[in-house]
Amino acid sequence: MEKYLINPNQKLSKISKDIYGHFSEHLGRCIYEGFFVGEDSPIPNVKGMRKDVVEALRDIKIPVLRWPGGCFADEYHWKDGIGPKENRKKMINTHWGGVTEDNSFGTHEFFELCSQLGCDAYVCGNVGSGSVQEMSEWIEYITFDGTSPMADLRKENGREKPWKLKYFGVGNENWGCGGNMHPEFYADQFRRYETYVRDYDSNNHIYRIACGANEFDFNWTRVLLQKAGGRMNGLSLHYYTIPGNWHKKGKALEFSDEEYYTTIEKAYKMEELVRRHGDIMDQYDPDKRVGMIVDEWGTWYNVEEGTNPGFLYQQNTMRDAIVAGLTLNIFNKYSDRVKMANIAQTINVLQSVALTDGEDMLLTPTYFVFKMYKEHQENTLLGSFITTPKISEKGKLPKLIESASVDENGVIYSTVVNTSIDEGAEIHCQIADFAVSEITAEILTSDVRAYNSFENKNAVRIKEFNDFEITNDGFKTNIPPCSVVKFVIK
Ligand code: AHR
Repeated sequence: MEKYLINPNQKLSKISKDIYGHFSEHLGRCIYEGFFVGEDSPIPNVKGMRKDVVEALRDIKIPVLRWPGGCFADEYHWKDGIGPKENRKKMINTHWGGVTEDNSFGTHEFFELCSQLGCDAYVCGNVGSGSVQEMSEWIEYITFDGTSPMADLRKENGREKPWKLKYFGVGNENWGCGGNMHPEFYADQFRRYETYVRDYDSNNHIYRIACGANEFDFNWTRVLLQKAGGRMNGLSLHYYTIPGNWHKKGKALEFSDEEYYTTIEKAYKMEELVRRHGDIMDQYDPDKRVGMIVDEWGTWYNVEEGTNPGFLYQQNTMRDAIVAGLTLNIFNKYSDRVKMANIAQTINVLQSVALTDGEDMLLTPTYFVFKMYKEHQENTLLGSFITTPKISEKGKLPKLIESASVDENGVIYSTVVNTSIDEGAEIHCQIADFAVSEITAEILTSDVRAYNSFENKNAVRIKEFNDFEITNDGFKTNIPPCSVVKFVIK
């Protein structure tokens, strides 16, 4: 029997709702077809945005959306995406399939989408191939409420009032597709570009995010903090879970048990990454003023057969749900430093929460994890600990990964992931100084290879979970293998 201790007296950090954020790029069928079908489409839409997708994302309380990239951000010129659609420039999307980008989805459409979703906007600017002036004018166009060349242009294009811009990224992956820069060079570029990201609205400070490290590049984090730490609000981190390697990543639907454990073990690396980059951040920023922004994370497999290799379209199984569940528990646990995270990418690309096919849409197992975890948003993290065997070959992967939080009414939410394919886990949960009067629970579980298809959209679904018993100090339960369980404790 494993011991699970939750301490409601140990109130730790606030879990920012933005940890549950999403990422959408002009890549494959994420923006076009996924979110945006145009007003004339037979697919039900409001101002061109798919109704089914918007409704599904509102249902999981999507807090923030990152756009327009990704690699696309550093070759995007925002003025190509405003004004009458027929006059908008067409460009080649060189990173993603070499397809024609007609710029019919631009700044106005993005803010319309955020407003329909009820979420905050996170815009990523172009450092790699854009100018300081271009970036500065974009900020003026979006946020200035007065008379100026860019505010007037916005008004000419039909938008009188400025929008609220909460987050702005100064470039993306500038160590790679965003210009192949060295950290010292990028740190100076960040200082220069960021200078002209003006706060036109004195009531709204734009949260400036510097391009951060790829995976284990700790030197990048160190140099950025040394040289530009004082000028940034957030520093990003990118990490993808790839079961194989960049050339042979592995398939989304067909994988051996061994490949499953490799995937989960690699996903669990997120704990080490957040901890070690966080330790470096602590050296330069002991008060934790600078947020860690994990603005790209998720699984990355071979594309589905017969689809454009540049579109990164992949299916999503219970394995992905386990990855999502454990990763979000890690972010909760490190919410003193992790202030935002954005799964890549919302629709039809990489670890998506929804897939579309014409007017059809399905929700993936990953979607249901976001649905189960949504109550953690803005809660207070509680001190918690679980005893657990280590189950992978290298002995590093815990079988059980949990987090617990409390809301303003004193209700406790605990999410537990059992990463084992075939072994359940008996748990005795003790909650300090807390008399349990009621527990409700939900579970997402299935065969590890189960997935939702357009033929069977309900193969993986959240179900009520009743296999627990209230005790005088907490509760006892048996967590099934390959599952994500949420307990709501009153
Ligand atoms: O999400 C796909 C790509 O992965 C992004 O465009 C880029 O930032 C990262 O390398």
